[in-house]
Amino acid sequence: MIDILFKRDEIAARVAELGEQISADYAGRTPVLVGALKGCFVFMADLARQITVPLELEFISAASYRNGAKQDDTIAVGPSPYLPIRGRDVIVVEGVVDSGRTAEAILRRLRLEEPKSMELATLIYKKEVCKKDLIPKYVGFEIKDEFVIGYGLDYSQLYRNLNFVGVVSGFDK
Ligand code: IMP
Ligand code: MG
Repeated sequence: MIDILFKRDEIAARVAELGEQISADYAGRTPVLVGALKGCFVFMADLARQITVPLELEFISAASYRNGAKQDDTIAVGPSPYLPIRGRDVIVVEGVVDSGRTAEAILRRLRLEEPKSMELATLIYKKEVCKKDLIPKYVGFEIKDEFVIGYGLDYSQLYRNLNFVGVVSGFDK
């Protein structure tokens, strides 16, 4: 069962607002957007096109492997991006921040490269369940602890191509 949570138009309007906010915050600068694959891919494409300051793009991959309980997940962050980010203004772009452990692992890795500044942007933020010390600056939508798909987000690699964000029920994430 899939119920629509955020329709295409609603997402587009929100992403346009975020683009405006980022364009104002980074006026006179050239940020590097670093997308966290694969969930970021639709959000990244839409957000980048709503930002009016010059920008560069890079991607990083991270995957979590379940070792039983959720807290035991191992997060494997892929190789550092090719694009040098030392001294740059970095915006990490995530599709969803759930416990926040994936985003945290990516930020920790990128911090080693000594960017000038680093912020986190996410389309979906599960604030109630997220680590309290991880606060994304740019949030599309805050949701409760439920599993969502579409607009880049998957369930078992499916549904990333849906043009809306939906809630799935009836199966184990
Ligand atoms: P974390 O708990 O914030 O580290 O999220 C772990 C990863 O699980 C995310 O990067 C996503 O790949 C995936 N994930 C968490 N919540 C959802 C969801 O609601 N829909 C789809 N994927 C999710
Ligand atoms: Mg996934």
